[in-house]
Amino acid sequence: MAHKPIIALLGGGQLGRMFLENAMRYDITVHVLDPDPQCPCAHLATRFVQGDFDDPDTVLRFAQHADVIGIEIEHVSVEALEKLKAQGKTVIPDPSVLQTIKDKGLQKQFYLDHEIPTADFALIHDKSQIAGHAQLLPAFLKARTGGYDGKGVMPINTLADAAQAFEGPCVLERKAEIDLELAVLVVRSAKGAVAVYDPVEMVFDPRFNLVDHLRAPARVAPAIAGSAKSLALRVAEAFAMPGLYAVELFLTKDGELLVNETAPRAHNSGHHTIEACASSQFDQLLRAYMGWPLGDATLRGHAAMINLVGEGGTGPVELSGLDDVLHVPGTFLHLYGKTETRTGRKMGHVAVVASSHADLDQAIAVTKVHCRIRPASTGTSKTNGPASVAPHNS
Ligand SMILES: Nc1ncnc2c1ncn2[C@@H]1O[C@H](COP(=O)(O)OP(=O)(O)OP(=O)(O)O)[C@@H](O)[C@H]1O
Ligand SMILES: [Mg+2]
Repeated sequence: MAHKPIIALLGGGQLGRMFLENAMRYDITVHVLDPDPQCPCAHLATRFVQGDFDDPDTVLRFAQHADVIGIEIEHVSVEALEKLKAQGKTVIPDPSVLQTIKDKGLQKQFYLDHEIPTADFALIHDKSQIAGHAQLLPAFLKARTGGYDGKGVMPINTLADAAQAFEGPCVLERKAEIDLELAVLVVRSAKGAVAVYDPVEMVFDPRFNLVDHLRAPARVAPAIAGSAKSLALRVAEAFAMPGLYAVELFLTKDGELLVNETAPRAHNSGHHTIEACASSQFDQLLRAYMGWPLGDATLRGHAAMINLVGEGGTGPVELSGLDDVLHVPGTFLHLYGKTETRTGRKMGHVAVVASSHADLDQAIAVTKVHCRIRPASTGTSKTNGPASVAPHNS
């Protein structure tokens, strides 16, 4: 790259925003494409283009002058990525990897083909075929494409539940008896070097089917942590292409590890790496994009990440309880700069670094009790004290 390299990022949400925050330190030019002109990256990217990242022509035009094309969401045009790769540009994840991962059916088949342990499953054309696979019940039904954040996933405990199931091609997957949900991030460079982060433990919020909080290191025996890292590494090696892989795992009550799914990009389960590791997931991704040596993924101490999810309806953002949270040593706030809050929408997170799980417990409890994102009450002279802050870029 003779000129100053340009990274073109498809998607301008919070993952892109945290990527930009780090890339700026290296003075790297990052162009962002997103349909929403108020998205979290809109006012921070070197150049922002409003447009549909799933439209091949829009993506081709947008990335014409870029050296590297990256994603922060899977719902992008693979066709365009293939063309950009054919033009000699660096595309991460590789279009073939994205093609496999975008379709939960192909992804599950990939694990089977590579002898990577995963819950038993069947691929079905529509819900009428559930009855033919009754031996898999109780199960989870997953739309093959288009799902995110738990949308497009539903439990099917009995055949009677099949009536409410959604339409279209799905994966029907045997329910795992889960003890803990873990995630392991792996980064792979173009030269095949790898760095693996310590497993994190994910705790879900059943209301929204979103990660409520996570903690690292996961509270599992060292042998389990080691096996989780090896398994995630096997997944990344099976994909055999540079980039970041966030591998979600189930630790079953029998002590078995199963791969749930993989995201070929930065992931919610890696946000703590900004404060808790020398090199964050965003830093590693940048290094992979640029062909630089990978960074140090060692976890320094204990860390937690608590998602701040909108509650109480839709409206302009009002955050409360920040003072209480920042009183706890080692806490940091990330607000994603979304101008509108909605119930269940990821609006930000609190990161915590501490020296023990007991300290994490305290910080998690304080955040969950005090920190709230609700729609601002409009039309009143309500004062926003020090505990309230306006969204970053509204
Ligand atoms: N086979 C299974 N057995 C038990 N629980 C499951 C199974 N599959 C999914 N789940 C539960 O449903 C959650 C969401 O499933 P999955 O990760 O496939 O969906 P998703 O829409 O990609 O979610 P996200 O985008 O939040 O990662 C899992 O984290 C887990 O709690
Ligand atoms: Mg998932």
